[in-house]
Amino acid sequence: MHPAKTADPVADTDGSKPEQTALSNRNSGFLFAHLSDLHLSDPSGVRSRDLLNKRLLGYLSWRRHRREEHSGEVVDALVRDLKRADPGHIVITGDLTHLGLPEEFREVSKWLSELGPPGRITVIPGNHETYVDTPWDDTMARWLPYMTSDTPPESGTGITADTVFPSLRIRDGIAFLGVSSARPSAPFLAVGSLGPAQLEALDRLLLETGQMNLYRVLLIHHPPLKETLGWRKRLVDAKRLRDVLRCRGVELVLHGHAHRPADGRLKTRDGISPVIGVPSGSAIGLKPGRRASYNLCRVTRTGKDWELTVESRGYSPESGEFVPENQGSVSAPDHKGGEQQNQGNGPQGCNQGIQIQHQSQVGD
Ligand SMILES: [Fe+2]
Repeated sequence: MHPAKTADPVADTDGSKPEQTALSNRNSGFLFAHLSDLHLSDPSGVRSRDLLNKRLLGYLSWRRHRREEHSGEVVDALVRDLKRADPGHIVITGDLTHLGLPEEFREVSKWLSELGPPGRITVIPGNHETYVDTPWDDTMARWLPYMTSDTPPESGTGITADTVFPSLRIRDGIAFLGVSSARPSAPFLAVGSLGPAQLEALDRLLLETGQMNLYRVLLIHHPPLKETLGWRKRLVDAKRLRDVLRCRGVELVLHGHAHRPADGRLKTRDGISPVIGVPSGSAIGLKPGRRASYNLCRVTRTGKDWELTVESRGYSPESGEFVPENQGSVSAPDHKGGEQQNQGNGPQGCNQGIQIQHQSQVGD
C-alpha cells in the first residue's frame, strides 16, 4: 500500500551520501504521519449568544494570540509536504478547532475531505473540541468517518464518544488505538480524562492486539507523562492510563496538547516505549520552540522486534515549506528496559486485567 513513488528524496545535509530517514528508506516498513493541534477553523463569525459561557475566554484568547499564531499559509505548506511524503496513513491527535462550535466542525470536515479519505486519516478529539458541552450530532458526529474503528459500533445503541472510543484501526501490522481525553473543563483549565469505562476497554484492546503481535500505537490528545505539562493542562487519570500501559504493553504513544515537541519514555512490561508529542502543525512560532512541525514515523519489523524511525519536519518561514529538522531510529519498545525480561504475563497484578476504580476521577 506504500511507499510513495513520486516524492523527491530528503536532501543531504553536507553533500555526502544520503542519510537513512523516514522518507528515504522507502522499501521497508510502514510510513505514517503524526500531526496535532492544527486549530484550523476561523471563529471570527461567532454569534455573541454562543459566547455566554467558557467560549468567551477562548474567543478572547483567539483574538489576542491564536489568530496570529495559527496560519492558513502554514497549513497549506503542511498539506503540500504531506502530498510529497505520501504516507500510508495520517494520524491527527486533536484540537482541530478553537471553540468547538458546530460551524468549526463543518469547516474542519471540509478540510479533512480535501486532505484524504477517512480510511487513510485517523482523528481523535482534543479539549478544544469539547470547550463546552455541545450535542454530539452538531459536532464530532461530523468527523465520525475519520474517528470510528474499522468495525464501527452498532448505530442502534446510539453513537457517542463513549461508544466510538477507544477506536481501533489496523494498517499493515500497525494497530492505531485512539482514545478521547476530551472533556469540558472549568474556565482556565484544559484538563482531560479517559474515565473508567474507556480505560477498561483500552485494557482489553491492548491485550487482544498484543496477542495478535501488532505494533500498538496509542493516540491521545493529553500527554500521559506528568512531567510534560503542568497541573492546569494535565490528564486527570494519567496514572491509571500508565498502569494499563505498563501491564499490557504499548509500542508507541503519540500525543499533542503541549504545542511543543516532547520525547518521553514509558517503562512497560515489554520494555521502554517512546512517548512522542508534536507541536501545532499550523503555528508560526511566536513563542520560541513552538513553530509548526510534524513527524513522519516509519515502523519496520526486524525479526521478532520492531524499529521505529522518526523524522521531524518543521516549517521554514524562509522557504515557506516544511523541511527536515532531525531524525532518529530506536527499537520500540527497547526490551533492555522492560519490567520483566521473560515472556511472562507482565508485572504482578496484570494477569487478570488491571483493577480500575469507578468511584473517583481524582488525578494522580
Ligand atoms: Fe489541547
